[in-house]
Amino acid sequence: MTMTPVAPRLDDGLSGLPDEVRAHLHSRLKVVVPAQGGPGAPPQPISATSAVPPGNGHSSSEAASKSSVKEPAGPMVVLENVSKVYKNGSQALSQVNLQVNRGDFLFVTGPSGSGKSTLLKLLYGQERPNEGNILVNTERLDRLKGNRLAMLRRRIGVVFQDYKLIPRRTVAENVAFVLWAQGFTRKEIHRRLWPTLKMVGLQGKSQCFPDELSGGEQQRVSIARAVVSTPPLLLADEPTGNLDSENSLQVIKILKKLNSIGITVIVTTHDEHLVRISNHPVVQLNNGVLRHLRC
Ligand SMILES: Nc1ncnc2c1ncn2[C@@H]1O[C@H](COP(=O)(O)OP(=O)(O)O)[C@@H](O)[C@H]1O
Ligand SMILES: [Mg+2]
Repeated sequence: MTMTPVAPRLDDGLSGLPDEVRAHLHSRLKVVVPAQGGPGAPPQPISATSAVPPGNGHSSSEAASKSSVKEPAGPMVVLENVSKVYKNGSQALSQVNLQVNRGDFLFVTGPSGSGKSTLLKLLYGQERPNEGNILVNTERLDRLKGNRLAMLRRRIGVVFQDYKLIPRRTVAENVAFVLWAQGFTRKEIHRRLWPTLKMVGLQGKSQCFPDELSGGEQQRVSIARAVVSTPPLLLADEPTGNLDSENSLQVIKILKKLNSIGITVIVTTHDEHLVRISNHPVVQLNNGVLRHLRC
């Protein structure tokens, strides 16, 4: 393959992209000083997925990969008495308490406007709570700023309802872009790209452009992009919101597969059917109030 990801200048490399794509990539790719290694040294992936690239999650290797994850001990996500009121006075979340353990798969349900996206935005550091504490991967989010917040964000994969792909880049380039901008070597990009595309069933579409793909395929590209850098936490905000039931099931199946190789997954959906046919824990938001529906 001749992969030619456009070389972004990290200060200004995203100009020319649609605003929301740029906003998404900018928060993901913000220039950071690597915690370890020199420039160009890839961030340390979780060992589960570096040892077992996505797509190789056979059941025999799952247990081994789960037990070999070298992440800090403790829950992946903790919210303590978290409230969020937007500047216009909208109360999006009220006194939310939630713990998500490593390796969990959690559904967050609730009607439109109930606070689902806000909850994920708080976990991703895109919004700040007015009250309460949030811990992600043992880091207190309120204490993280600038570089350290950007480093944490790199360890969180995010998937949106509307995909947010770069329109004039191929599937391969869209997925490789994140790695490239994080300073991964060309060799490492290739090592990660193919198993990831295979895992989402898109190895045959690597040279297609987003507008040549179905909605389901575009969403699978965005999942590949979210996990290609092997984050320990994946947040998916209504990932099936624009999809028919068959494609929705396929997306959930991929998220479950990622969970089986050790990634903690939090998915919001207002699709009660998807939640009913699955046996994962479920919490529900109603007017910003969270309650546990199924543990
Ligand atoms: N940026 C914002 N500014 C003001 N109000 C907002 C903003 N984002 C969301 N809200 C409000 O917060 C509430 C929760 O929104 P949201 O988290 O998007 O809900 P959901 O994702 O469940 O549809 C809604 O009342 C919404 O109008
Ligand atoms: Mg929402």
